[in-house]
Amino acid sequence: MKAVILVGGLGTRLRPLTCNTPKPMIPLVNQPFIEWMLLRLRDQGIDEVILAVQYLADRFYAILGDGSRLGMKLHIVEEPEPRGTAGAVKNVEHLLDGPTFVFNGDVMTDLDLQAMLAYHRERQSKITIALTPVEDPTQFGLVEMDANHQVTRFLEKPRVEEITTNLINAGTYIIEPEMFRYVPPNQFYMFERGLFPVVLQTRDPMYGFPSRAYWTDIGKPQTYLDVHHDILIGKVKFDFHGHEIANRVWVAGEASIHPSAQIVGPVVIGDGTVVERGARIIGPSVLGPRCHIGPEASLEGAVLWENNVIGEGVTIRNSVLGRGNTIGAKCFISDGAIIGDDCGIGPENRLERGIRIWPGTTLGEQAISF
Ligand code: GTP
Repeated sequence: MKAVILVGGLGTRLRPLTCNTPKPMIPLVNQPFIEWMLLRLRDQGIDEVILAVQYLADRFYAILGDGSRLGMKLHIVEEPEPRGTAGAVKNVEHLLDGPTFVFNGDVMTDLDLQAMLAYHRERQSKITIALTPVEDPTQFGLVEMDANHQVTRFLEKPRVEEITTNLINAGTYIIEPEMFRYVPPNQFYMFERGLFPVVLQTRDPMYGFPSRAYWTDIGKPQTYLDVHHDILIGKVKFDFHGHEIANRVWVAGEASIHPSAQIVGPVVIGDGTVVERGARIIGPSVLGPRCHIGPEASLEGAVLWENNVIGEGVTIRNSVLGRGNTIGAKCFISDGAIIGDDCGIGPENRLERGIRIWPGTTLGEQAISF
């Protein structure tokens, strides 16, 4: 069974984390998200995957190669320019030879793929769209169905009075290759605004597959933090790298934790990370490899990628740091602050309320403080 994963988007909503790292490659609990996704597909019987890459394409070749490390066959195919979601699959059409799974590369889900395939086959569907319920559908594309689950209408970001269903397109599809005859070649073309509305007109069988499986779009700062939370509290299955040294505290390789440091799980600590005296790490938190957490620092709900140096007495709450940042003593970072890569933040800065600091930024002492 083959699958195409769409990984060519710019990931603008997650900037500055995606300035140097394509969104599907950002770490989720210290593992590139795409790696988790590929392993999950392999375990569900998909052994050949085509990655449709575009933005920062070289990162995919460097980390995933031909897929043999993960026990699967991987084709990495680069678009000459962004072709949109349907255009990207059209671009790899020559590699498809039967019903094919297509995935958005930014959705964390434990959907039962074999059940979806059986459903697709039973109904002799040409396109099957996984659907997930959401509380507030106004930010999403709604999919309406008839009593037999045949899709009847798509509604993009409806106003409250237009809402007729809480089921949204979950970004997982099974598509028969012949459907790509409706997609114009060498053009930017989307599923939601292009192919799917056309198939409603042609009346080829197109079904929705509603499911209550775990589902989160990792592509926004808050959902990126939420998904860490969900993984760490066990809401979605995830194999942590490392061994459990205390109740829900996992440590990979050689981390060094001062006896006076307080760690309250769920916390994952990467290889080579040092936690100094009196530091407090409160879960759900993830410390990447080779980080240095200074004395008396206090972290809660924090996600740090690798090589961050956190100064004495720093507070970090519900915020994300990319790679290689240095945070000066007594900084206060909270409420969804996002710091890119290689920033030098001087002592006693306050970075709060969703502030985004671009890679390579340097801030002097108390540059932002009140
Ligand atoms: P935002 O800029 O934050 O909206 O992110 P995005 O464009 O990366 O993601 P969006 O949610 O719009 O796209 C859904 C999925 O399709 C993501 O996994 C993207 O990587 C992928 N994608 C979007 N556009 C393209 C494209 O032109 N080519 C390819 N190959 N993939 C795409």
